[in-house]
Amino acid sequence: MRLLVTGGAGFIGSNFIRYWLRNNLDDEIINFDKLTYAGNLENLIEVENNPNYTFVRGDICNVNEVEGVMNKIDVVVHFAAESHVDRAIMNPMTFVKTNVIGTYVLLEQALKSKIKRFHHVSTDECFGSLKLGEEKRFDETTSYNPKNPYSATKASSDHLVRAYFNTYGLDITISSCSNNFGPYQFPEKFIPLIITNLIDDKKVPVYGDGLYVRDWLYVEDHCKAIELILKKGRSGETYCVGGMTEDVSNIEVVKKILDMLGRDESYIGFVRDRPGHDRRYAIDWSKINRDLGWKPEHDFNGWLEKTVRWYKDNKDWWERVKNKEYLEYYEKQYAT
Ligand code: NAD
Ligand code: DAU
Repeated sequence: MRLLVTGGAGFIGSNFIRYWLRNNLDDEIINFDKLTYAGNLENLIEVENNPNYTFVRGDICNVNEVEGVMNKIDVVVHFAAESHVDRAIMNPMTFVKTNVIGTYVLLEQALKSKIKRFHHVSTDECFGSLKLGEEKRFDETTSYNPKNPYSATKASSDHLVRAYFNTYGLDITISSCSNNFGPYQFPEKFIPLIITNLIDDKKVPVYGDGLYVRDWLYVEDHCKAIELILKKGRSGETYCVGGMTEDVSNIEVVKKILDMLGRDESYIGFVRDRPGHDRRYAIDWSKINRDLGWKPEHDFNGWLEKTVRWYKDNKDWWERVKNKEYLEYYEKQYAT
């Protein structure tokens, strides 16, 4: 099988490529990535000499470039996106372009190239926000109610993907997953930001009251879910993918990491809240469990500890990532 992976130089995409090539030795992967600030070929050093792996630099919004890589492709796995909520609040336009127009360009070309399966990687943020303390979780029947420019563009792309299934018969699947964590995550996101700041002996910025809740999913569990969906999932279906079952607040996550790194609570800095901050996400993953036999194999505490160790052992990687552009972004985001 030949897979076109978009956004494969980012966090989840690069974990997926390494995972797939380890477990599917006869398959070939083309990684198509624009290499924005979030794309990093160092994430793929392990596979760069693998004869079944090819990298092509390009933009999913560019029709000619997309046409050039869809030849003889069986399956598209679409990760490429602008993915950070705070950057979407600062500059929504790049999110509209990449997440909406880019997805549209890929769908058109997938149809023309008679691709056998288009898998779209989406997010639980499209469902909006849950209340603290309520039992409710998001599932495949939850109505869409995106509340920030990032989730609004991801929701738009999901609607386009379903429209191409319904209208033109394109074979599609969607995974709507919760917050991933693990190796190679760009340190603008909460967990790697906290870990790397603490290793650098800096304070950690916690938004608002710190009582926001996310459903943490270890990235390898997510990769396994996508593999199962590609191999056994039904065309036209969406599968919700989530992690742990107990709610854990952001401040609790910070305290766990402080503990793992031997720091005290004086390192916590409460900062101005994110505008329109979604209170709680929680996923009911019973459909993918029932239909495809998937469940998260990794418990939060154990894998948080492994992730902390990875960042301790790979300081060179994230020191290079925290470059001038990163520091300018950080300054702007956390100035107040
Ligand atoms: P990321 O920001 O780490 O990586 C995105 C990748 O896409 C980068 O390599 C970047 O260079 C590439 N890219 C961006 N614009 C592009 C364009 N126009 N053309 C080609 N490539 C482009 O993102 P991530 O965290 O790995 O997320 C991957 C996907 O999973 C996204 O679609 C995101 O919405 C979704 N998702 C992420 C999470 C999470 O917790 N990180 C959770 C749910 C869903
Ligand atoms: O739920 C899936 C989504 O998870 C994905 O679709 C997004 O691509 C991904 O970025 C992530 O979005 P979040 O906004 O939930 O993740 P983030 O890591 O930015 O923030 C997690 C929580 O931590 C959130 O409640 C905001 C809070 N936070 C974040 C940062 C960066 C802080 O308190 N301080 C911070 O500095």
